[in-house]
Amino acid sequence: MKSNLKFFKKFKSLPVDKFFYNVLYDKKDGYYSVQDPFGSKGDFLTSPKISKLFSEMIAIWIIYTWEIFGKPKNFNIIELGPGDGDLIKVILKVFKKFPYFNSVKKIYLYEESNFLKKLQKKTLKSEKVEWINNFNKIKKGPVVFFGNEFLDALPIKQFKKEKNNLYEKYLILDKKKKIKEVYFHASASDLKVISSFKTLKNLKFIEFPKMGFNELGKVVQKVSKLNGCILIIDYGYLKPNNQNTLQSVYKHKKNKLFDNLGKADVTSHVNFALLKEFYTKNNLKVKKTITQGKFLKKMGIIKRAEIVEKKMKFDEKTNLYYRLKRLLSSRSMGDLFKVSLAYKFKSNKYQI
Ligand SMILES: C[S@@+](CC[C@H](N)C(=O)[O-])C[C@H]1O[C@@H](n2cnc3c(N)ncnc32)[C@H](O)[C@@H]1O
Repeated sequence: MKSNLKFFKKFKSLPVDKFFYNVLYDKKDGYYSVQDPFGSKGDFLTSPKISKLFSEMIAIWIIYTWEIFGKPKNFNIIELGPGDGDLIKVILKVFKKFPYFNSVKKIYLYEESNFLKKLQKKTLKSEKVEWINNFNKIKKGPVVFFGNEFLDALPIKQFKKEKNNLYEKYLILDKKKKIKEVYFHASASDLKVISSFKTLKNLKFIEFPKMGFNELGKVVQKVSKLNGCILIIDYGYLKPNNQNTLQSVYKHKKNKLFDNLGKADVTSHVNFALLKEFYTKNNLKVKKTITQGKFLKKMGIIKRAEIVEKKMKFDEKTNLYYRLKRLLSSRSMGDLFKVSLAYKFKSNKYQI
């Protein structure tokens, strides 16, 4: 219990998002600052770790977008939250098969954790990529932002509505140093913002990604200025239903939310209806949110698997299709993960 104290810093209580920000991203003790969480030795598997074909499909989508945008000579690609760098590594390998495109594209990585930046540098060795903290550095050409499991890793705020009053959930340590939930009146500014979203109108329990929208706000500004798009792939839902979606995973198993703080991953599900409303409010066009399964199939993942399998032995083929099933099946990630595309560009052809 003593270890929980350090995430409160000097505060007696903290709103849910600020507390979990410390748990996940504190420079000294935060989950993403002290360990490599990815892969079988870590706590969870993301799609790039399940199959390289996932990353190849993102590469194909980026090249398709470049073509739709008229094959510009300046083309900026920014990955949001690149994890251990595995996804972009495969993407760069695909790009090398398209020499002209490869010569005009620029790659930027947007990463909060210094620990993961080091890991990304190790994975990417001599690849030509640039880490970026401020998108103002990008001056020319359309911008393509993409992020896999970026938003679900950004702490959310939680509120309850009672008799038209909005209360925010805070976390507090009781006398026995156990974490307890308490509610305080929401701030006037949060109340104003939350009331402005139709998607949240009739809910009694509200999750609001203030930190996520702050980050996306910077992204939206850049897209509005230079033209471009934002592809978000994440675990999430289409209709909010008063759910508390905060969840924790430790060594590939469900973990109680307040256990193993700083050693376990904590995420929430993305509200894709709210995300869509956020983009629309910011004058971006938004495509219909689709499932990961549908997106990957549209990009040609099955055809690609058929090509790859030709050189494989039986057990390798079995493994390939087992992994593909995990990515595509409606019972697995195929439906649970959704893909959202927002953009600013004049084209009737653009789709996902
Ligand atoms: C769940 S991981 C996903 C990693 C990777 N995209 C993948 O699919 O394997 C979330 C990533 O987002 C990063 N991240 C979280 N908040 C961030 C922020 N505010 N700015 C930049 N990166 C952030 C994390 O450090 C981590 O790299």
